[in-house]
Amino acid sequence: MDDPRVNAPRMNTAAIPNHVAIIMDGNGRWAQSRGLDRNRGHREGVESVRAVVREAHNLGINVLTLYAFSMENWNRPKLEVNSLMGLFEEYIDVELPQIMEKKIRVRAIGRLDRLPRATRVVVKHVMKKTANNGGMELVFALSYGARQEIVDAAKQLMRDAEAGKLDPERLDEKTFSAYLYAPDVPDPDLMIRTGGDSRVSNFLLWQIAYAEIYTTDHMWPDFRGAQLVDAITDYQGRERRFGLTSAQVQGGTDGADGATSESE
Ligand code: IPE
Ligand code: IPE
Ligand code: MG
Repeated sequence: MDDPRVNAPRMNTAAIPNHVAIIMDGNGRWAQSRGLDRNRGHREGVESVRAVVREAHNLGINVLTLYAFSMENWNRPKLEVNSLMGLFEEYIDVELPQIMEKKIRVRAIGRLDRLPRATRVVVKHVMKKTANNGGMELVFALSYGARQEIVDAAKQLMRDAEAGKLDPERLDEKTFSAYLYAPDVPDPDLMIRTGGDSRVSNFLLWQIAYAEIYTTDHMWPDFRGAQLVDAITDYQGRERRFGLTSAQVQGGTDGADGATSESE
């Protein structure tokens, strides 16, 4: 074949999303369809975490948020919950040298006080150890629920208002987001869900206001570097209009003559 495009890199490196957030779903079904127990699926899912973190780092993604355990997941059988916590601890333990080498900064968001002590110790340790790393930000949503995050923010806002530190009349979107779990992390540009379902499952409700959503039938253990590249290629083919017309976006005008937002 002499088509010059055949060997051209598929990826437009200039348009890599800044922040990718992933709902890693389908471990249980991956295992059950093979006659294995669900925990085997979670174990294989960890291999996908390894692969996707590596690929995200190679692609130059700045923030990768992984939904590892939801508030609702606390209602799963105790054995499964324990095994998920153990897998997380083991992953951090094994991966820490790689994380340091790649200068990845690890954080966790969620109601971390609810985690078992051993998990909390690991989370604290990896956050402290990587706090000064300047590379990719790797955020684990752990014991996380977006509604809970918004309620926690509202609670603190009300306390601050009561203490006279905040004037309710001056509350805007920017001030509100400063009360979320990771206020300095920019909103996701691309949200991926594996496992074939198209729902948000209480993930980053505030932050995904304008995220591009990509769903795939791949179960999480089958989602590796190549599948991340597919998702990003799909994302790159979209036009993000943020409420503007296509002509405005193409023309490079910012719509400032008509578009207003509360925080502007
Ligand atoms: C995702 O896989 C892992 C977590 C939610 C912790 P699931 O365990 O939800 O797998 P399915 O959806 O039952 O296949
Ligand atoms: C979403 O998966 C949560 C995580 C990936 C951690 P679930 O399997 O818990 O979501 P639902 O219950 O299908 O909505
Ligand atoms: Mg699931």
